[in-house]
Amino acid sequence: MTATTPHPFADLGGITREMEPMALHTSFGVGGPVRLFVEPRDWDTLQVVFQRIFDANLPLRILGRGSNILVTDEPHPWVVVSTRHLDVLRRSGTCVEAGAGLYLPRLVATAETWGLGGLEPLAGIPGSVGGAVAMNAGGRYGRVGNSLVGAMVAFPREMPRWVDAAELGLDYRYSIVPRTGLFVLSATFQLDKAPSRQLEARRLSILAEKHASQPMDSLSAGCVFKNPPGGKSAGWLIDQAGLKGTRVGGAVVSPKHANFIVNEGNATARDVLQLIAMVQEAVHRSSGIRLELEIEVWDSEQDRSQTDGRE
Ligand code: EPU
Repeated sequence: MTATTPHPFADLGGITREMEPMALHTSFGVGGPVRLFVEPRDWDTLQVVFQRIFDANLPLRILGRGSNILVTDEPHPWVVVSTRHLDVLRRSGTCVEAGAGLYLPRLVATAETWGLGGLEPLAGIPGSVGGAVAMNAGGRYGRVGNSLVGAMVAFPREMPRWVDAAELGLDYRYSIVPRTGLFVLSATFQLDKAPSRQLEARRLSILAEKHASQPMDSLSAGCVFKNPPGGKSAGWLIDQAGLKGTRVGGAVVSPKHANFIVNEGNATARDVLQLIAMVQEAVHRSSGIRLELEIEVWDSEQDRSQTDGRE
């Protein structure tokens, strides 16, 4: 495929954009352009898109709401398939099925209006349902896995199948989904009847707590590092190392919560990566602990060097 030949999705209507900046699709607000960006409106179209990606041997990335990724600055050869329109939301009694692309805060808010409790501990966590399942997103009061019954998952070349939550290997910020190349199509939660008013009060109190301690209104990808084993919080370690306010270009260690790096508007992914390396080094020096990334870095240079390494 060259710049002059039509791309493989040209006949599928206005669902594809060329050289789309990923900065527009990530909560960090950084990331270079991708060769093709596709937003299928339904499962049938998604299957056609996947088939053509494989027929043309194009490199594929699947995107939820872009709230936990850092995409590097250079142009990327990928076809990025966004799940944002796969956003069904169905209820059967106290069971709720949510499409992978549904915005997690919308799921939390809708369950509340239905008088179904169990998801309110996830208040204030951004992202898609699919992404939240893939990383078992959560906070102090609970994780996605706590009320998850199972999910419809697929490898891009295969038909979807149901897996029980127990088969997803859920742990702290972990599931097998990103490691196996699976992707989530929808997730089913078992909730409990509860008064909407009570759920709302709980959600608002968690949100207020988050607003008080985290830079919720800034461009960021949430917590950058996982909390290390042993009970110490990454934010506390970074704070103790005196790094709040440390800056590279437009990227700054948040003065409000040290485990957030915020983009002040003009940051590049390069700035963020340099700042990450500085933080890791300084924390290692001061505490002996090597912080591991919670966010995912999308880097096509790295893809290439890994492929080269295999050949
Ligand atoms: N702390 C500091 N300085 C800081 C930040 C935190 O001293 O700059 C101290 C706090 O005072 C507290 C301890 O560190 O004593 C823990 O901080 P906090 O309660 O903010 O929790 P956390 O472990 O930093 C975790 C999750 C957050 C989640 C919050 C609240 C991780 C990596 N982070 O943060 O998740 O919102 O609990 O539930 O597990 C995310 O995953 O993106 C995320 C933001």
